[in-house]
Amino acid sequence: MRFTLFTFNTPIVTFAFMAEDLNIITSADKVEQYSSLIPQIEALITGEPDLVANLANISAALKEQFKWFWVGFYLVRDNALVLGPFQGPVACTRIAYGKGVCGAAWQQAQTLIVPDVESFPGHIACSSLSRSEIVVPVFRLGKVVAVLDVDSEKLDQFDETDAQYLEQIVKLINFNA
Ligand code: SME
Repeated sequence: MRFTLFTFNTPIVTFAFMAEDLNIITSADKVEQYSSLIPQIEALITGEPDLVANLANISAALKEQFKWFWVGFYLVRDNALVLGPFQGPVACTRIAYGKGVCGAAWQQAQTLIVPDVESFPGHIACSSLSRSEIVVPVFRLGKVVAVLDVDSEKLDQFDETDAQYLEQIVKLINFNA
């Protein structure tokens, strides 16, 4: 949602809703949480062409609603995933193709749900506090251009519902920007 102030028909300030305007719902039902959040994410990024700004706000909105340990993007840069906008503790900067959960999701071009990171061969532990993880690829013209990575301090945090809604969220991203 965007507002513009006019002085003598000249726009002087254009501003959009900021993160503090997010309506965070306390429902324990994650479908309700996603259903409330998705239109707000759409409103935050619609009309904003800057990719970094949009990835940053999506990370922040997800973190605010779900309080997950780490939420962020890795961007495909040549033959590696490079850390992009995120919310949470500092993280590994580069991940090779096929390595870790993120590199595997890139290679397989599909969402990976890891209920227990210790059982995932090759899991990259950016933090020892992370116990479970979901990684969702972001596509442009049929190719993976980024992944959304979410980590939880709880075991078995993520399921098919998260996969379905997070896939819906990453489809909102305009990667042409
Ligand atoms: N655990 C990920 C690395 C990224 S951090 O969790 C932020 C992986 O195995 O790819």
